[in-house]
Amino acid sequence: MTGTPDLLELAKVSAEQAYAPYSRFQVGCAVFTERGGLFTGCNVENASYGLTICAERNAIFHAVSEEGPAMKIATLAVVALGQEFPPCGACRQVIAEFATPETTVWFLRDGKPVAMTMAELLPASFRI
Ligand code: THU
Repeated sequence: MTGTPDLLELAKVSAEQAYAPYSRFQVGCAVFTERGGLFTGCNVENASYGLTICAERNAIFHAVSEEGPAMKIATLAVVALGQEFPPCGACRQVIAEFATPETTVWFLRDGKPVAMTMAELLPASFRI
C-alpha cells in the first residue's frame, strides 16, 4: 500500500470520522512512514476553539505513538470533504519535525491530486 491515490482515499475515509460541529470542515490525513507504517487522523474540535487539533497533527502523533520517536514520514496526504487545501502553517511545522525536505505532501486541487515537497511547503523551516 504505497500508491498515492490509496493514501488520499484513506485520508478521505478518516475525514468521515471528524468531530467538527463548529467549522463543519471535515479533514482527514494519512501518513505513510519510512518503516512502511500507515496511520490516519481526523480533526477534533472543541467548544474552546483554540483546543482544536488538525487532522495532520492527529495522524502524525498517532504514528509517533505507535512507531516511537524515530518515526519518519515518507509521504502524507490530506483531504477535506467538500473543500481543498494544503496543510495549515502549524501542521507544516509539525510535519517538518518528522520529515526531510524531499518528503512529499499530497492534497487535492481542482479535484486532482497535487504533490509538493516539504522544501516547497515550508522553506527555511525552524529547527534546533
Ligand atoms: N484543519 C485541519 O484539520 N487541517 C488543516 O490543515 C487546516 C484546518 C481543521 C481545523 C478545524 O477543525 C477546521 O479544519 C477549520 O479550520
